Amino acid sequence: MRINFGDLVIGDIARDRIKKALDKNWVTEGKNVEEFEKKFAKKFGYKHAIATSSGTDACIAALASLYEFGAKRGDEVIVPATTFVATANAVLAAGFIPKFVDIELETLNINPRLIEEKITDKTIAIMPVHLMGKPCDMDRIVEIAEKHDLKIIEDCCEAHGAKYKGKYIGTIGDMGCFSFYVAHVIVAGEGGMVVTDNDELANIVRSVKTHGRPTGSIYFDFQRFGLNQRMNDLTAAIGIEGIEHFDETFKKRKENMYKLLEMTKDLEKYAYFSHEEKYETISPHAFPLVLKDSKYNCNKLYKYLESKSIQCKTLFGSLPTQHKAFEFLHYKYGDFPVAEYVGENGLHFGIHQYLSTDDLVYIHDSLIQYFKNVK
Ligand SMILES: Cc1ncc(COP(=O)(O)O)c(C=O)c1O
Repeated sequence: MRINFGDLVIGDIARDRIKKALDKNWVTEGKNVEEFEKKFAKKFGYKHAIATSSGTDACIAALASLYEFGAKRGDEVIVPATTFVATANAVLAAGFIPKFVDIELETLNINPRLIEEKITDKTIAIMPVHLMGKPCDMDRIVEIAEKHDLKIIEDCCEAHGAKYKGKYIGTIGDMGCFSFYVAHVIVAGEGGMVVTDNDELANIVRSVKTHGRPTGSIYFDFQRFGLNQRMNDLTAAIGIEGIEHFDETFKKRKENMYKLLEMTKDLEKYAYFSHEEKYETISPHAFPLVLKDSKYNCNKLYKYLESKSIQCKTLFGSLPTQHKAFEFLHYKYGDFPVAEYVGENGLHFGIHQYLSTDDLVYIHDSLIQYFKNVK
């Protein structure tokens, strides 16, 4: 038995749609993609939903739309120091520079109090990431963006169905980007979605994700920077099933999250756990913990959990100072103390819908055992 971070079970709804696509010999962007977009938009009340081939591509397409609003190559986008690498890589791939900001220990999200000092005359956008499904402090971020005339692109890749003050995340800013990678709350295998309530932005993103052609055209008229970021109909079939099952998946994961939070109360002297505020709905993406003292040795805990067949992941590490890929930006260790601490002392593991209460008890018992024996 292994407790995976996430699992994908492909059921009848997806299989039926895949078969129909195969019978028509149509596996590129088609009817399934169109329906996936419509269903996703309707489910969460977004005006537009534009499917892409991955969450990374959703971020790149949303970012590349900023050229239409005066952005120039080399301009800067504010991102948190702690996030999955795709957020920062998308900024680079779109032709901009990521400007990193430290995070808060309590939320693992960008610290809004540190954003303004990173804004320069090259800043064009803020890209908050609702990490681990927990919404960022959007009131404060919107206030800063309005004051400095910046666009907001929400990285919602880990936050399907999360709400901030009664609103689904994704259109509190100008655009939101989702991923349907395996282990997320809605899975398509691979895949992404850009959402927006703005008609103009929707048109531009639709064009960017198909080589910068005018929307609806397949001919050689290239009006802007663009790539092939289209989703295919087989992937969309699996995504549609994910939406059909969304409510039960979300409920089961949320139950698992609360069960494990309840069980781990006796571990609060060792680690920080996530906390849901009254004004928010956390999307149950995964279960993060950050050790309260590095003497509890995160590496050892990681290896211990893996030896118990519990798949876990670190909490990313500070991208600018703990990953070689960003060395060329010349940040130095110590610039992002919270992200660095979380990088060295944080883990997360799955709470997905296929885990039983026994699995959660096993995770808790394994953790207890570790902390009892740690010197
Ligand atoms: C915060 C964040 N942004 C972007 C992505 C990229 O999504 P994808 O893997 O679908 O390209 C992910 C992936 O999980 C993510 O967690």
